[in-house]
Amino acid sequence: MMMIGRNCGRLAVAGQRLFTTAALRGVSSRAAQLNSQLLAGLVRSTMTVSWARAPANRLRNESTLALVDRANHPHRPDEKVAEEAGLAGAGGEEKGIVSYWGISPVKVTKEDGTEWKWNSFRPWETYKADPSIDLKKHHAPLTFLDKLAYWTVKAIRYPTDIFFQRRYGCRAMMLETVAAVPGMVGGMLLHCKSLHRFGHSGGWIKALLEEAENERMHLMSFMEVSKPRWYERALVFAVQGVFFNAYFLGYMISPKFAHCVVGYLEEEAIHSYTEFLKEIDNGNIENVPAPAIAIDYWRLPPGSTLRDVVMVVRADEAHHRDVNHFASDIHYQGRVLKVAPAPIGYH
Ligand SMILES: [Fe+2]
Ligand SMILES: [Fe+2]
Repeated sequence: MMMIGRNCGRLAVAGQRLFTTAALRGVSSRAAQLNSQLLAGLVRSTMTVSWARAPANRLRNESTLALVDRANHPHRPDEKVAEEAGLAGAGGEEKGIVSYWGISPVKVTKEDGTEWKWNSFRPWETYKADPSIDLKKHHAPLTFLDKLAYWTVKAIRYPTDIFFQRRYGCRAMMLETVAAVPGMVGGMLLHCKSLHRFGHSGGWIKALLEEAENERMHLMSFMEVSKPRWYERALVFAVQGVFFNAYFLGYMISPKFAHCVVGYLEEEAIHSYTEFLKEIDNGNIENVPAPAIAIDYWRLPPGSTLRDVVMVVRADEAHHRDVNHFASDIHYQGRVLKVAPAPIGYH
């Protein structure tokens, strides 16, 4: 019922937009033939219908209507906002596109009044990590699938250890490029399942996509302190191609196995970040200041360092471990994910 309701709403909005745009095009093409009084009357009546029917869509309709009198008002206030924010670009055509769709950049500030730098996440999407989470929890592999997942991860770890040795900064950055894949693939497949089964997901789509985004923010933080070389970029590209497809197929065949693999990958990630911390404490890796993006994303105090970032990332990995082993256990008990509410915002 909810889907039908939403679809209907969407169709209504689409119809609304087609109606107003078509009306305007008609107005535009006939403008030379109609006298100015008739044109003004027609535009006025179109505006009235648009605003009365879809007040939430007001900005977009207003912007579309604005094109009719572009010749009289080449620089509208919303264009000026975009220009001031540096988003309109140098070309006149680009400025027109920004104005046409009525999307103006929103300036966000931090609590202290300084400018918010990140477009990919907003202050209300940040959080404080929970470093008190038990890092030693382990899912004992008992069934055949558990053991297969466990040894698959151990087998992946072996060449990884050889490749990276003790370069934990580089290792973290590279492995985050892989770690951000399962959540997106699982979320995407559950999304498709929700559509073709006409059913809810129990929040699991959102939870898995949150995990993917969280992993990507780990990457965005580590790439500020470790730059990949050309062959490492090539390796990521190749591994991503293989891993994405392998996980996609694996999740289609057995989501229980797929989540179990991720659970064990996260256990290994916790181990790797513990080694990373030891290297920082030994002085083998310089404890540089935390990247600005990490300070804002985890709400770290000013003056935080790389060690603080690794601590919160490791806590996140422990949460991913729990979420994925939990998901695997739900399947293990012969249930589907949607019967158990997903841990949205658990990180
Ligand atoms: Fe991560
Ligand atoms: Fe993770």
